[in-house]
Amino acid sequence: MNRISQPDFGTPAVSGARSVNVVIDGVALSVPAGTSVMRAAREAGIDIPKLCATDNLEAFGSCRLCLVEIDGRSGTPASCTTPVSEGMQVHTQTPLVAKLRRNVMELYISDHPLDCLTCSANGDCELQDMAGAVGLREVRYGYEGENHLDLPADTSNPYFTYDPSKCIVCSRCVRACADVQGTFALTIEGRGFESRVAAGQSESFLDSECVSCGACVQACPTATLNEKSVIEIGTPERSVTTTCAYCGVGCSFRAEVRGEQVVRMVPAKDGQANHGHSCVKGRFAWGYATHRERVLKPMIRKRTDDPWHEVSWEEAIAYTASEFRRIQEKHGRLALGGIASSRCTNEETFLVQKLVRAGFGNNNVDTCARVCHSPTGYGLKTTFGASAGTQDFDSVEHADVIMVIGANPTDGHPVFASRMKQRLRQGAKLIVIDPRRIDLVRSAHIEADFHLALRPGTNVAMLTAMAHVIVRENLVDMSFVRERCEADAFSAWAEFVSQPENAPEAVEKICGVAAADIVGAARLFATGGNGAIYYGLGVTEHSQGTTAVMAIANLAMATGNIGRAGVGVNPLRGQNNVQGAGDMGSFPHELPGYRHVSDEVVRSSFDAMWGVKLDDAPGLRIPNMLDAAISGRFKGIYIQGEDIVQSDPNTRHVAEAFAAMECVVVHDLFLNETANYAHVFLPGSTFLEKNGTFTNAERRIQRVRKVMTPRNGHEDWQITQMLARALGYEMNYGHASEIMDEIAALTPSFAGVSFARLDELGSIQWPCNEAMPVGTPVMHSSGFVRGRGRFMITAYVPTEERTGPRFPLLLTTGRILSQYNVGVQTRRTANVVWHNEDMLEIHPHDAEQRGISERDWVRLTSREGETSLRAHVTDRVAPGVVYTTFHVPDTQANVVTTEYSDWATNCPEYKVTAVQVSLSNGQSEWQRAHDDVVRTHARLEEVPGE
Ligand code: SF4
Ligand code: SF4
Ligand code: SF4
Ligand code: FES
Repeated sequence: MNRISQPDFGTPAVSGARSVNVVIDGVALSVPAGTSVMRAAREAGIDIPKLCATDNLEAFGSCRLCLVEIDGRSGTPASCTTPVSEGMQVHTQTPLVAKLRRNVMELYISDHPLDCLTCSANGDCELQDMAGAVGLREVRYGYEGENHLDLPADTSNPYFTYDPSKCIVCSRCVRACADVQGTFALTIEGRGFESRVAAGQSESFLDSECVSCGACVQACPTATLNEKSVIEIGTPERSVTTTCAYCGVGCSFRAEVRGEQVVRMVPAKDGQANHGHSCVKGRFAWGYATHRERVLKPMIRKRTDDPWHEVSWEEAIAYTASEFRRIQEKHGRLALGGIASSRCTNEETFLVQKLVRAGFGNNNVDTCARVCHSPTGYGLKTTFGASAGTQDFDSVEHADVIMVIGANPTDGHPVFASRMKQRLRQGAKLIVIDPRRIDLVRSAHIEADFHLALRPGTNVAMLTAMAHVIVRENLVDMSFVRERCEADAFSAWAEFVSQPENAPEAVEKICGVAAADIVGAARLFATGGNGAIYYGLGVTEHSQGTTAVMAIANLAMATGNIGRAGVGVNPLRGQNNVQGAGDMGSFPHELPGYRHVSDEVVRSSFDAMWGVKLDDAPGLRIPNMLDAAISGRFKGIYIQGEDIVQSDPNTRHVAEAFAAMECVVVHDLFLNETANYAHVFLPGSTFLEKNGTFTNAERRIQRVRKVMTPRNGHEDWQITQMLARALGYEMNYGHASEIMDEIAALTPSFAGVSFARLDELGSIQWPCNEAMPVGTPVMHSSGFVRGRGRFMITAYVPTEERTGPRFPLLLTTGRILSQYNVGVQTRRTANVVWHNEDMLEIHPHDAEQRGISERDWVRLTSREGETSLRAHVTDRVAPGVVYTTFHVPDTQANVVTTEYSDWATNCPEYKVTAVQVSLSNGQSEWQRAHDDVVRTHARLEEVPGE
């Protein structure tokens, strides 16, 4: 059997301690003080049998299999719980410990089914291995005594089973759930022989609070907790290390494969972003890659009400190129544009913007970061000089006060949330600024010190009021400000925030939060030690998104919380490669590396490498492209990996724009909402089918490695290359690594990046260049990238979206753990058991006023449109606020969102819409009609070969 399991040192590594010399079975070595005897032995190449120990959990000492003898000590201590000491002489293989271990194994085996040959874990079972390792030859107690062999299995979870007949009660699962994941869903119930693992209050796994992260399955040494895919497909044969394609945490996984079939995704222990942990999406929700609805052959149609017909790749590319040429000849060079994807690799994104700039001859390229984190780029570049978060995730281990604003990490960034929760359980303080009571506010062993449940749209007022307190109470870190920041800008800012209208006592009426709480939170942040700020789309997706990012940067600078571990300003990026899409020059005004297209020197380096003369004028942003389409100036678009019709605000307006274009090319995995308006459909490849890199929220560039042959025939960058060539612009890459070499040659912050270097180092956080050859975990450590930090004035300007008698409630939106973005991938997995419809959260008071009960159909109406969905009555939202997710196209929450957007970047104001909610009889008329439209537009002339 080809074992592909990751090495296990038994107990966690100890770092930073002085070295201790020990001798184990005659092998002398030095290890850090505090290291367990078990781990030291493993480092000396000696495996001590173990069952309850594993190296991502603190030692527990329950199985008694790891006994050793130590000179000068009586008895046989457990090696997992015994730390090394200077001069220690350890013996791991003596007749005494061998006999004791065999006795222990006999007891385990006497209550364990002996179906190894047919067990799904055969060959991948630590119990089986240990029976061999201790030389078990007989079981003197027989198998006839009292046992647990008939206990029924729990198969309720869609991805894994729990078969208690195989449980050895080692408690690894319970500890993984508590210590690694932080959910505390599991306990050991009963005593002595009756002990067994229980989920929740003796519920099924599905009904318990289990969030299906898989940590317990990973930890289980037997087949008790086992992936259903392993049971169905069999033990994997090989593994390929790659990066999750869902959120911006960027978890590293080992894709374990049998033939061309993925058996399971196992989080990589050496993953530098996730350290061996995962969430339900990356761990289990990869089945969309082989979903029957995936389109694998190119399709074209002359008109969008014609049926699709399948064509060869050659025909699809030639047709697209001829249409694009026709459009430019008739309507001019600027009538075309392209959308790069934050879900695709850096290399693919780089090629899309290159195709637009060099092939189309304009700068009309944009990306979905427009609708999420563009204010982060603008705000942090203005204040600090770099459009990115300042820290690595490990930094949170050194934070004393954690401030979370407009983010819901346990749903949106779950693996990082688990790290954050570990730090909070160790005693770090927590401030949550969010209109909704997110899970972090109160969960197992965690309670926020302050939850400032502000009215949606008032972030800037709140953050400025906190700054007011910090200045008023002389809590500014003046030595940091004097040394690191622009003096004049600081003085102007301090004067501005000190004005009476920015005092908490004035702002409490705007935000709906008591002044005392604002004061308390500000004092805690300024005086509580290392203060780290984490924020999300609840900050950026506002008409003052950029202002709020700047206000956050101001707070960090004023309190000296920049430039070292444990502090910083950290945007939690939504999509897997939204950082990379920005880095790669996907915005219409910036070339790769965030350099303005008007910069003559920068542009000439691209001109020389690309053999063209680039346009020096910024191109159109997504909203401008849509407006230009409606006014007849913009006629063709190439969209790679984005569903603009579903994800952008004011769906009606977006649909009208697409309907006005002459050639819409959608390059994606599935016929999405935008494909309803497409003339060409180019099938995309999944992350399992391609080589490349993603850049996560910590600026960490990680490899994406091809696990299987692309089912559509090509990696996505190859498809863009074919299109460029058909348009007459030559591209000749033979491998994604060659694209990265070009990126490195053209982009100073990527100068030291290559696939070879990534393979060597595991990952690299940019900037990576001669000065920082292994990358930069913490930015601005000795000075800001822009020289001195720049405080910005952050006057609060209320959004123009106002509540009133017709629309008295404020709608805000967000994500849920089991689903991802517009749900294209996750809705095609078993994750729908947790969420198959978007629901409207409404406070009991508002629900009662409207006669609304739990799960009633309600109509959600705004000035822009209406949709219907079911109600969830909950006090998680404050009175006056309603909340929904946007994962399901049947609901299309964006039908009601407005066209208001951030003043600096046009990022839509998704988080504030004035609405009314009333009882309804079911779906709205357009929703029923929409189902018909989808059926018509998805119609094929022939049934595809799938
Ligand atoms: S899957 Fe995760 S949350 Fe669920 S019981 Fe296991 S460790 Fe806990
Ligand atoms: S389910 Fe697995 S990890 Fe949990 S106690 Fe049983 S054998 Fe140990
Ligand atoms: S936390 Fe994000 S990157 Fe990690 S497994 Fe989950 S979805 Fe993937
Ligand atoms: S591995 Fe040490 S007691 Fe179980």
